[in-house]
Amino acid sequence: MRKAVIPAAGLGTRFLPATKAMPKEMLPLIDRPAIQYVVEEAVRAGLTDILMITGRSKRALEDHFDREPFLEDTLEAKGDYAKLAAVRQSSTLADIHYLRQGDPAGLGHAVLRARKHIGNEPFAVLLGDDLIDEQDGILDEMTRLQELTGGSVIALMEVEPSQISAYGCADALPAPGGHLQVRRLVEKPGAAAAPSNLAVIGRYVLHPRIFDVLAQTPPGQGGEIQLTDALQTLATADGPGSGVFGVVFRGRRFDTGDKLSYLKAVLTLALEHQDLGAGMRDWLDGIMAPSLP
Ligand code: UTP
Repeated sequence: MRKAVIPAAGLGTRFLPATKAMPKEMLPLIDRPAIQYVVEEAVRAGLTDILMITGRSKRALEDHFDREPFLEDTLEAKGDYAKLAAVRQSSTLADIHYLRQGDPAGLGHAVLRARKHIGNEPFAVLLGDDLIDEQDGILDEMTRLQELTGGSVIALMEVEPSQISAYGCADALPAPGGHLQVRRLVEKPGAAAAPSNLAVIGRYVLHPRIFDVLAQTPPGQGGEIQLTDALQTLATADGPGSGVFGVVFRGRRFDTGDKLSYLKAVLTLALEHQDLGAGMRDWLDGIMAPSLP
């Protein structure tokens, strides 16, 4: 498997007005935009052919992964080779293609737009606003499970029952190898209706049969074509490419399209940063210390 799709065409309304003219995927985490972490994760998993699904106001994404000759010349003339390497790195990471979604009619619709580029082979989907801890090679594990089962694989994470209504939720049974077989998926259930506390997070390894299913999937929650609905169909289908399996992710994950989660991501990365960590910890200790009477 070489190909990955990164849907990044959502409107990012939770971050307005910051995202009125700038993609939420360009929000910085220290000195790299959120989307670069996602592309780097794909590249580490050997996925060097990347199709990014974009939309209006998303030009900055293309510019970020392109060469910037004027800036590079200026840095070179100054002899600032560290910054020059950092600027060049994002343009040499992978073979990145772009396709506009047109109408942001849902994640399922965005994935369906990738059909021609992907063809008839399994592929990964990484949501452009989902940040997953570097140390967990979850895509490798998901790829192995896809090869073993011939179906589609989703990443799941245990969340507090009160949080499940923000996610797709999986009703799953234990399967050989410590993995799960998904029986049913429910999009954003209320706590009482949720079949489990297993939330669907933004990493998928999909069998290309998903495209046929998506093409037949009517708009679901929010009037959008939901990837979860198409996966639900595959979970109960028969024949080649059927079946949905789950890998439980136990590392750290941040939704950089959500304000609180974004701030947690920035703070976590800052605390762990070689140059910034000590200063950030001192400052936090200072503001968290109980004030003297
Ligand atoms: P979200 O549910 O985060 O929606 O999409 P959103 O529109 O991006 O953000 P909010 O909720 O308005 O703040 C999940 C993922 O699916 C992509 C998004 O870019 C994000 O990576 N997506 C969503 C699309 O590519 N197209 C769509 O039509 C919808």
